[in-house]
Amino acid sequence: MLSGHTKYHEEFERQAAEFEKKEAAYLFNFGYQGMVSMVDALVDRNDVIVYDAECHACMLDGMRLHIGKRFPFAHNDMENLEKKLINAKKVTDVTGGGILVMTEGVFGMSGQLGNLKGITDLKDKYNFRLLIDDAHGFGDMGATGAGTSEHFGVMDKVDVYFATFAKSMAGIGAFVATDKKIVDYLRFNMRSQVYAKSLPMPMTIGALKRLEIIRSAKGDELRKKLWTVVHALQDGLRADGIEIGSTQAPVTPVVLNGTEKAAVNLTHDIRKNYNIFCSIVIYPVVPKGTIILRLIPTAIHTLENVEYTVNAFKEIKKKLASGYYDEQPFANLDEI
Ligand SMILES: Cc1ncc(COP(=O)(O)O)c(C=O)c1O
Repeated sequence: MLSGHTKYHEEFERQAAEFEKKEAAYLFNFGYQGMVSMVDALVDRNDVIVYDAECHACMLDGMRLHIGKRFPFAHNDMENLEKKLINAKKVTDVTGGGILVMTEGVFGMSGQLGNLKGITDLKDKYNFRLLIDDAHGFGDMGATGAGTSEHFGVMDKVDVYFATFAKSMAGIGAFVATDKKIVDYLRFNMRSQVYAKSLPMPMTIGALKRLEIIRSAKGDELRKKLWTVVHALQDGLRADGIEIGSTQAPVTPVVLNGTEKAAVNLTHDIRKNYNIFCSIVIYPVVPKGTIILRLIPTAIHTLENVEYTVNAFKEIKKKLASGYYDEQPFANLDEI
């Protein structure tokens, strides 16, 4: 608002809107911050938010600023969503406000897709707007990479499409694509944009270039390669009896059971000795005794990388089951 918004920012917004088949788009400085501030701006005390219980922290934290009512629905459970929509409507019938439903395109921990078809099918019955956070779907889901709404064929039914640059764009920043009047409103009402500088120029020009690649024939090639790697990895892990849940996206969570000590030693082993980077999730994010190692295959991985990774996981699973990691002293994760 105050400074830093250039023709390059506007060009990105024009191209992002075109790609997402929306009237307008707006470039944010950060994903997390952008979502928090956008939720704050989109609703007022009379409005009700109905959200998937497993939504990302940025949406939950945005909701903390909301002084009206909010109702969570059980993850991807359409019957439960309907119940919550009925409750929400009872409130908005009195306040005169609107209902905003929020979910994710791809859930980042499990790789499950938000049930966008099920949700949008309810739009005619219950009058609501739908906001999706497609951080993990933008660039890789859908025939052209336009995201999970494209994958489900519901781009026109998602009212507010949000994605960050933290995943397929390999950068910093985010954008929203939606109606022009909503973008105009956000420009003047999102505190994270009004009271902060715009996205720095190197990130903006980098984002333009990345968007160009995603939309090009090269992007199609990269996506094809990505899905070849994803399917090889997920099929290979499953074939070896390694639990990866019900992912439908590149996010590949390897689910193991063991103590926290075993989790630390296993992470040290896989990073230092096998040279594989993966994020680890343990208690309190998941129940005690569960260890999730999240793998994110990319288009630049090779099928040799996949074979190596599947074999490595086979070995660490065996070591874990034999008690090897519990017998070792605590590894020093600082050294890796
Ligand atoms: C679903 C989701 N939304 C939002 C964010 C925050 O985005 P950023 O890292 O660009 O701030 C993340 C994490 O990067 C995410 O996984």
